[in-house]
Amino acid sequence: MDDRAIGVFDSGVGGLTAVKELRAQMPGEDIVYFGDTGRVPYGSRSRATIVKYTRQDVAFLRSRGVKMLIAACGTVSSVAAHVLEEQGMPFAVVLRPTVEAALAATRNRRVGVIGTAATIRSGSYRRELERLSPGVQVFEQSCPLFVPLVESGCLGGDEITALAAERYLSPLRRAGIDTLILGCTHYPVIREAIGRAAGPGVTLIDSGRETARYAARLLGGLGLLHAPGHRGTCRFFVSDHIEDFSSVAGIYLGGAAALDVEYVDIDRFPAE
Ligand code: DGL
Repeated sequence: MDDRAIGVFDSGVGGLTAVKELRAQMPGEDIVYFGDTGRVPYGSRSRATIVKYTRQDVAFLRSRGVKMLIAACGTVSSVAAHVLEEQGMPFAVVLRPTVEAALAATRNRRVGVIGTAATIRSGSYRRELERLSPGVQVFEQSCPLFVPLVESGCLGGDEITALAAERYLSPLRRAGIDTLILGCTHYPVIREAIGRAAGPGVTLIDSGRETARYAARLLGGLGLLHAPGHRGTCRFFVSDHIEDFSSVAGIYLGGAAALDVEYVDIDRFPAE
């Protein structure tokens, strides 16, 4: 048993797609969430910058005494996973669990991947798909407008979001994919718009949800779950306006209660 919290981070609200599933899978766990809203998006930045931000995010979560680190961010998982590996504690990144779920779902072995520019440029999902299933056909598309749309609250029913989805998804629809990896954790927030544009019969794989399920299995397997009889809490930290995060996060998590959100000066944490 281990009563410390689980540390989860993302550039903004995207990692909440993992938090929602973590709470469903492990209602007894405390969660500390950091959304780097002052520096979102990560996906348009260089590898060096994403690594530096990841080091600071991890240093902040470690300062809260967490027992596990979850990079609920496709971009961090694609270019800076080594920062989590170096910490010497249990961790999860999105790639492997997401790819395994996609390979279990596909029937025609034509898999689409959408993600941020940094994620698609890294080739991380393609490599993992081809490694675990040689011969699978992979069709990739970066969708740089999706993260700013989600962060500004243009959700599934919004017409600009629908137009962007149509623009990004039509090449994958024409390629005949039957499975689509939402390789950025922000994307499930607009999954209706993405699903409509991807076409009927395409299975959408939610990277945040798959990673949360993996994390639950890992913690349980290591015997590090919270002692029974505890109702898990969630504390949120952001590096910019609290209000903006609270309103989008509140809609996404679907709770009526006000969220416990605090500001953190992330520049105080070491990037080395
Ligand atoms: N949720 C992050 C991801 O999975 C968003 C990255 C960004 O800030 O561009 O990639």
